[in-house]
Amino acid sequence: MPLRINPARLRADFDALARIGAAGVGVHRPALSANHLAARAWLRERILAAGLEFRQDAAGNHSGILRAASPAARTLLLGSHTDSVPHGGRFDGALGVLAALEALRTVQDASLELPVHLEAIDFTDEEGALVGLLGSRALTGALTPGELAQPRGGLAALRDGFARAGITDPLGAARPPGSLAGFLELHIEQGPRLIEAGADIGIVSAIVGIGSFRLAFGGRADHAGTTPMHARRDAGRGAAEFMVRARGLVTRDFPGCVINFGRAAFEPGAYNIVPERAELALEFRSPVQAELDALEAALLGEARRVAAACHLELEAVKQGCVAPAPCAPEARAAFAAAADDLGLRHIPLVSGAGHDTQALAAVCPAGMIFIPSTGGSHNPGEFAEWEACVNGANVLLGAAIGWLDR
Ligand code: GLV
Ligand code: MN
Ligand code: MN
Repeated sequence: MPLRINPARLRADFDALARIGAAGVGVHRPALSANHLAARAWLRERILAAGLEFRQDAAGNHSGILRAASPAARTLLLGSHTDSVPHGGRFDGALGVLAALEALRTVQDASLELPVHLEAIDFTDEEGALVGLLGSRALTGALTPGELAQPRGGLAALRDGFARAGITDPLGAARPPGSLAGFLELHIEQGPRLIEAGADIGIVSAIVGIGSFRLAFGGRADHAGTTPMHARRDAGRGAAEFMVRARGLVTRDFPGCVINFGRAAFEPGAYNIVPERAELALEFRSPVQAELDALEAALLGEARRVAAACHLELEAVKQGCVAPAPCAPEARAAFAAAADDLGLRHIPLVSGAGHDTQALAAVCPAGMIFIPSTGGSHNPGEFAEWEACVNGANVLLGAAIGWLDR
């Protein structure tokens, strides 16, 4: 009989965390906001109440640790993130952190002998309100001073968040190479494929890479009534034409990719002024690095053509790029064996969302599973049946135990 987590204990934690920063049926816990820090204070209490060692590293990552007998042992990390997108859902990230904590408590209750340290971790700023995968990339040594100087959420937001959390040197969170045995993450799918396939568990084969740019079209502010249409250098027109053309380009030439314009801002921003500046937050994704590079070049080429045709200037500032990541075969095998032991139906899936697993994949065997969810995601209505959450937590536990037995 496989070891199983305590569903009531996990449920109590899940409901308690969902109340912190609650916004309707969802949560509002942007990274290092007051709500997020309250969630982390609560998590710290839960870790200590479980009799686990608590650790907060230089990037603010919060961990509960169950030590192996040998201090020299490597660490198997389990976890996800407690930050949310603005007005997001209760499950994205939170379930993975709490399932990791519950897995450690279950292993502790069973007094299993540990050949590796087990660590349940809550990574800082997975969602990218500030930088994106900040905590996980700091831990793996991939975070650069350049990214901290040009954060996608703006420098003021980063500085304020760091000040609130007492973070002064996030690069100091880098762990010694070779200290990690692996990383395993549980997450909701955030899409419809598991439900369509009638599967209980998605074993992630690869995670998309993500590129993001701040694009600004620059024109001339002018009188919206007296300036003839042909004489305008309308930055808003450039942005609008580019948004439509970029979508056509992706659907026509890059069928495996997606793009998003998550924000558009016109300046000066009045009914009666032709926009002088139009700024777009552009993000694009692909599971294949070569395709991501080709898409970036095609999008920037299209933006330049639009700017030239509309007599505008173009400013394009890269806001970060996360490489696509295949999941490790040993992690996938451990998840599959755990799901089989529990009689759960599993299928392989590519992740269209970014996850901390892709940062960890650069330094250790890393993998993740999805459970079925409805209501989409990055909205308050995302939802997973409780039975699916328990299934996912049990597969995470089973994969971790399988890892200990390797
Ligand atoms: C994270 O959830 C992302 O994919 O943006
Ligand atoms: Mn997430
Ligand atoms: Mn998310």
